[in-house]
Amino acid sequence: MVPLFDPKPQHRRVADRVEKATREVLESGQYVLGPNVQAFEKECADYHGMAHSVGVASGTDALHLALRAVGVGPGDEVITSPFSFFAGVETILYCGAHPVFGDIDPQTMNLDEESIEALVTERTRAIMPVHIFGLPQNMERIMSVARRHDLRVIEDCAQAFGGRYGKQPVGSFGDAGCFSFFPTKNLGGYGDGGLITTNNDDIARHLLSLRNHGSHRRYHHDEVGYNSRLDEIQAAALRVKLEHLDEFNDQRREIAALYDEGLADLPVQRPQAPADCHHVYGQYTLQVPKRDAFREGLEARGIGSAVYYPIPLHRQAVFGDTHAELSLPECERVSEACVSLPMFPGMSGEQADTVIRAVREVIQGLDAA
Ligand SMILES: Cc1ncc(COP(=O)(O)O)c(C=O)c1O
Repeated sequence: MVPLFDPKPQHRRVADRVEKATREVLESGQYVLGPNVQAFEKECADYHGMAHSVGVASGTDALHLALRAVGVGPGDEVITSPFSFFAGVETILYCGAHPVFGDIDPQTMNLDEESIEALVTERTRAIMPVHIFGLPQNMERIMSVARRHDLRVIEDCAQAFGGRYGKQPVGSFGDAGCFSFFPTKNLGGYGDGGLITTNNDDIARHLLSLRNHGSHRRYHHDEVGYNSRLDEIQAAALRVKLEHLDEFNDQRREIAALYDEGLADLPVQRPQAPADCHHVYGQYTLQVPKRDAFREGLEARGIGSAVYYPIPLHRQAVFGDTHAELSLPECERVSEACVSLPMFPGMSGEQADTVIRAVREVIQGLDAA
């Protein structure tokens, strides 16, 4: 039995320190936006070489507040990937703006950077690239389109904490980088949490107000904001885990290397990382023929798997007919073939071998059928 994800090995690695840090918060009596949040924000800013980072209640809120802080509003267009979790698009809609989808590159499964410029109109306000499954987008290309057209860039780094394009971490290229601490993420907390990185003092100041009911001074409200704060227990635990993040990401990369080697000769498409990208494998996602039968074969052998994402965002019912004419063939094809294998820090070599054996048996069985 190998589950798709198991947080327990990670927790065992940090349990003593997390329990101690949690106890200290409980005894301190300060539970929301206290010294741990402040210290964690500084440590995250330093990790990314950025001037600021602002903790919020979730990755979804990070995206929403960042869009608002850079001025995205009703009628604006935001160019993004159709192959992602719904949260990003949802936050564009929260702002009254319209998501505009380009197709993806089937090798990387990221938004095809070459598709972006043709989508720019006079209403385009921002680009929201998503570093899907932990693989950084080519940020050089995206930033050059953004500069040419004076667009803001909000990076969705929810699945890629610690990923690097060239030497630079994701979240340090655009106007704002948005992270999620949902427990399955590369830097996973013990509940919900999120964070925004930025080098822009005005954006940082605006974010501090937005996360706290539009207020910089108690009971003085300059605008309508939100209650979106990171709590002290999460921050205290995340501070401990941040110290282990590179180690945890290296473990993910080692499992990915075992998969790459063990599956190299099979007729499946493995994740492809361009040479200048440091992939941190939020997921290890294959593209396979006969996906349903493939997953049933894995399940029968006790191997967890998941489909991220079965329905492209432009095909979601929430859009009604507005995108009916839109055809994004690469995204639509990848959505039918993608399947993610077990991947988590602390997964053993034997577990990886069990997965590899099962995948080989299932693929060979399907080939013969
Ligand atoms: C790509 C992407 N963006 C945004 C989010 C939203 O993060 P959260 O669940 O912390 O709100 C997620 C998380 O599932 C995600 O995978």
